[in-house]
Amino acid sequence: MFSKTLSALLLLAPFVLAAPAESFDKRQSIDTSQHCGQWDTVAAGQYTMYLDQWGMGNASGGQSCANLVSLSGTNLAWRNNWTWQGGNGVKSYTNINLNSNLNKQLSAIRSINAKWTWSQSTSGSIVANIAYDLFTSSSAGGSNQNEIMVWLANFNAGPISFQYNSDGTPKPVASNVSIAGHSWNVYSGSNGANNVFSFLPTSGTVPSFSGDLNLFLKYLTSSQGLSSSQYLTTVQGGSEATSGTATLTSSTYSVSIA
Ligand SMILES: *[C@@H]1O[C@H](CO)[C@@H](O)[C@H](O)[C@H]1NC(C)=O
Ligand SMILES: *[C@@H]1O[C@H](CO)[C@@H](O)[C@H](O)[C@H]1NC(C)=O
Ligand SMILES: *[C@@H]1O[C@H](CO)[C@@H](O)[C@H](O)[C@H]1NC(C)=O
Repeated sequence: MFSKTLSALLLLAPFVLAAPAESFDKRQSIDTSQHCGQWDTVAAGQYTMYLDQWGMGNASGGQSCANLVSLSGTNLAWRNNWTWQGGNGVKSYTNINLNSNLNKQLSAIRSINAKWTWSQSTSGSIVANIAYDLFTSSSAGGSNQNEIMVWLANFNAGPISFQYNSDGTPKPVASNVSIAGHSWNVYSGSNGANNVFSFLPTSGTVPSFSGDLNLFLKYLTSSQGLSSSQYLTTVQGGSEATSGTATLTSSTYSVSIA
């Protein structure tokens, strides 16, 4: 009886040992150290985190820092804390850039499945957004012509717009457009170099987005004159930070183009 139990244990042992090893394998080994350099990059799976503190020269003080937390399959967890004083305009867009399946024509994209669950703590009032940022070009890998932003949160910032209401607020080109389970106002403008289309939640924030970003592109090609022969060159998600102090914690971030 003893030997029967022992041989049963010996038979079981490899499986017992194998189970944690398999779940450990799924969690990939990545650089989880903190980065604060203006143009620091950290690669992880199909993504690269860009510190992208492009406007920091306009700040009187401050910095953006970020670290990856974990990567499991295509699910990335990451953290970005920033503080900016002075100056006008965006100081940093610390973001997660997708490196896979880009440069397809919009007409050839079947889906851009995206998930982003985030929370943010702030100290005092901030000016920032939390947004996806996509770019299109007339050729694969070419220079940007259109910028498409999907804001999940707006903290005292505002979209680029051609039209303004008499009270100074930007005037949408379409209101209450229902896409991916949420209601959006759509703004059209120019940043000087690109047409900019911005989708902002009609009300509140979207702290847990799960949907197909291609539906926003399809809406623009069918209703706002974006050409479906354009190529999707960039898909990023992050926070455009202008002023204040915040910590953005993204517990799940994933984007995949098919
Ligand atoms: C300052 O902000 C402006 C407008 O946003 C931008 O064009 C410029 O590059 C910034 N300057 C520096 C030094 O970052
Ligand atoms: C971000 O948090 C880290 C760790 O808590 C800290 O060392 C760093 O100074 C913070 N950076 C900013 C810009 O707040
Ligand atoms: C959008 O929806 C809001 C809330 O339901 C409503 O007050 C507003 O009139 C709508 N705007 C348009 C342009 O339909």
